[in-house]
Amino acid sequence: MSLDFAPLLRGGLPPPATKYAGLSKYYFIGGNNDADEVPVDGLIAAATTVLQREGRTLANYGLQSGPQGYRRLREFLCTKLKRDAGIACSADEILITSGSLQGLDLVNGVLLENGDTVLIEQETYQGSLTRLLRLGVNAVGIPLDREGMRVDAVATALADLKARGVRPKYIYTIPTVQNPTGTIMGEARRAELLRLSQLYGVPIFEDDCYADLIWDGQRPPALYAMSQHGGVIHIGSFSKSIAPALRVGFIVAPWDMLARMLAIKTDAGSGALEQMVLAEYCAAHFTTHVPQLTRALRHKLDVLMESLAEQFGTAAEFDEPKGGIFLWVKLPDVVDTLKLSQAALAAGVALNPGPEWSTDKAYSRSRMRLCFASPTAGAIRQGVATLAEVCRREFGVPTRIANVESQAAPAS
Ligand SMILES: Cc1ncc(COP(=O)(O)O)c(C=O)c1O
Repeated sequence: MSLDFAPLLRGGLPPPATKYAGLSKYYFIGGNNDADEVPVDGLIAAATTVLQREGRTLANYGLQSGPQGYRRLREFLCTKLKRDAGIACSADEILITSGSLQGLDLVNGVLLENGDTVLIEQETYQGSLTRLLRLGVNAVGIPLDREGMRVDAVATALADLKARGVRPKYIYTIPTVQNPTGTIMGEARRAELLRLSQLYGVPIFEDDCYADLIWDGQRPPALYAMSQHGGVIHIGSFSKSIAPALRVGFIVAPWDMLARMLAIKTDAGSGALEQMVLAEYCAAHFTTHVPQLTRALRHKLDVLMESLAEQFGTAAEFDEPKGGIFLWVKLPDVVDTLKLSQAALAAGVALNPGPEWSTDKAYSRSRMRLCFASPTAGAIRQGVATLAEVCRREFGVPTRIANVESQAAPAS
C-alpha cells in the first residue's frame, strides 16, 4: 500500500493544482504569445554563439556574473530601459528573476505580511491578486478609466486609510498597457501618482511587462524614471516581447532593496542558459523583432474585434487596447462569465472570466478577458463564433447571431 501524504501536509496550503489536460481548441486564456513570432532561428544562432564563446562558465552557479544574473543581460537591459523608458540605472540595480512572477514574489516577500494593505487597480492581473489573497493582504481596488488607474480615487483611498491609521505598503500598478484593460497611463497622471506616493510615503510597485507592445510605439517614461524621490520598484519581463516559456524577468530597484530580495531568493540563480541566449539575441535583434511582433499582434486584435462585432453585434462592448495581447470585453448584464467560461470550455473555448481579474466581483461579473496573441486568426474567428453560440444558448444573448458562412470563416 502506498503511503498517504495527506495527513502530513502542512496547514494553510492552497487547493491542489489540476492535472494538465492539454490546451483547448480555442485558447483565449493566459498571457501566451504568438507561436509564429517566436524568433526561433535567431535564438538558435544566439545559443550556438554564446555557448561556443562562454559555455564553460556554466560550471559556476551564477556564471561569472554573481547572483544578480548574467551581466551582459543586465547591461542590455540598462541600455534598453534608458532608451525606451527613460530609466537611468546601472547593472547593479537589476536583479534577473525567473519570470516577473518571481519578481512579484520577491517584492511581496520583503514587504508584505498578513493584515497589510495595498492599493491595486480594480481590474488587474490575476497572478497578483491571488498572491495578495494568499498572503492575507487587504487589496483596495482603485477604479480605472481610459487612462488607467484613477488618481483621484487613489488620493481618496490614501486619505481614508490615513484617517484610519493605515499606511499601505505599496500602490501596485500596470501603467503601460494595463492587464486586462489595455490602457496606458499618461505622463501627467504618472506625475500625480508619484506626488501622492511621496506625500503619503507609500511606494509604487510598477509592473511593466507589456510596455514593449504598444501599437504606435509611444511609450511614456516609466514611473521609475520620473520619480524624484526613489520610492518605485519596477519589474519587467521577456515573456511578452520574446517568449514566456523562457521564464526570464527582472527587477529594477535601489541596491538596498535588491539586497533584501537577494537574501530571500533561494534558488541559487535563475536559469543561466536562457539569460545567455536572450542577451546574445536581444543585443542584436530586439529593436527589429519587437515592431514585427507588434504588427502581428495588432492584426490579430483586428480579427478579434471584427469577429466580436460580427458574432455578438452590440452585445459585446470594448475599448480598443493601446497594445498588448488582451481584449477586455463587457457582455450584457444577464451574462455571468464564470458560468459562461464553464459552458464555453465544454465547447472547446477557453476564456478568462472577469471576476478572476478584479477586486469588484459584481462589476466584473459580465466581463471577460480574451487573449488574442496565442490563437491563429482562423481560430479566433471560429472560437468567437462558437462562443457566441454557447452564450446565446446559456443566456439568450446575442439575440441575433451571424450567418452560417461567417461561422465557417476560412483560417488565415
Ligand atoms: C501584469 C503581469 N505581471 C506579471 C506577469 C508574469 O509574467 P512572467 O512571469 O512570465 O514574466 C504577467 C503575466 O501574464 C502579467 O500579466
